[in-house]
Amino acid sequence: MIDIKKTGSINTPFYFYDMELLDRTLQAIKEETVKYGFTEHYAIKANANPTILKTIASYGFGADCVSGGEIIAAVNAGFEPSKIVFAGVGKADWEIETAIDNNIFCFNIESLPEVEVIDQIAGKKGKTVNVEIRVNPNVDAHTHAKITTGLNENKFGINLPQLPSVIEQIKSKPNLNLIGLHFHIGSQITDLKAFENLCSVVAELLNELEAKGISFSNINFGGGLGVDYQYPDTNPIPAFKEYFALFNAKSDLLKGKSIHFELGRAVVAQCGTLISRVLYVKEGEVKKFAILDAGFTDLIRPAMYDAYHHIENLSSNGKQEVYDVVGPICESSDVFGKDRTLSAVQRGDLIAIRTAGAYGEVMASEYNLRKLPTAVFSNRL
Ligand code: LLP
Repeated sequence: MIDIKKTGSINTPFYFYDMELLDRTLQAIKEETVKYGFTEHYAIKANANPTILKTIASYGFGADCVSGGEIIAAVNAGFEPSKIVFAGVGKADWEIETAIDNNIFCFNIESLPEVEVIDQIAGKKGKTVNVEIRVNPNVDAHTHAKITTGLNENKFGINLPQLPSVIEQIKSKPNLNLIGLHFHIGSQITDLKAFENLCSVVAELLNELEAKGISFSNINFGGGLGVDYQYPDTNPIPAFKEYFALFNAKSDLLKGKSIHFELGRAVVAQCGTLISRVLYVKEGEVKKFAILDAGFTDLIRPAMYDAYHHIENLSSNGKQEVYDVVGPICESSDVFGKDRTLSAVQRGDLIAIRTAGAYGEVMASEYNLRKLPTAVFSNRL
């Protein structure tokens, strides 16, 4: 996976990206989406490293953006503006202007007040813009509470009972063109049953609306497909085949419609590894700690979502020992893994924290005035 000899002089911590695996992943998505005529808009939020973005854009995918900054990054990386969708519950005026000035494909609307503002700004610019309504389908994604989005209690989307009046409002706006519906129920969803439930709710909703004479040309099912954090080497490519086939099985419901997806994590998670060095091995009264030079400022997922990431000692094949693998930050939550079995660790060893390509580098911060991690690409070593 990573040739340590070639990284000896690189300052840690850094993100290592396996570009060959990224290519294989993108190829796998392309095969499935082309087969069914689906469109993928990569969710930029998962990883916005310019080299990663350029690679993804080169496969012809669209982009899903949630800020003006992401729209600019997507355009700069070569994503076609006509394939950019823009979601988010709090779009600022300058972000709406940026989207309109770049002629993006469509806005995903999350509230009624936003409808007014987008219509006004588009009117001032003398433009008509495409919008989809983000519907909150009240479907449980059975994932971590902090990454569940499709329940009535979540802040996202329009609740089903309010949908008819929002449709009416949008249709009455001179500068908005309502083209479809958007759904996103959560992230790191590994039980595909949640997506089946989503399909059933969408089918029922479309039938109801069509009975009232309302139909849409576009349906966007969002993202959310999970990856294998436990066994990244066994399952480097997520279950794209099963995932897309599941939606295709509803082709009677989706006939004649343009179908869109916004996968983020599944595209980039497995190609990224956070590489760190052991600073100290500390023997406590009840625990042995491997203290790394990476902390939650480099990868916040374990601290924020109790997320599991597989951890390996790249420098030794010695006997196995149990450690709490921790960072240097002055907070008790700065722990990458508790009671992890690793090849015996010494100061200076390189440690790999796997499946870190999604929501890793992009969520890094400078808390404690630490340096941001750098990025290293397998095809440039
Ligand atoms: N579309 C919308 C509207 C979203 O909110 C998201 C993710 C996606 C697509 C992409 O979802 P994905 O395919 O990556 O699951 N930082 C968290 C994940 C937050 C996800 C936010 N929304 C984590 O590290 O687990």
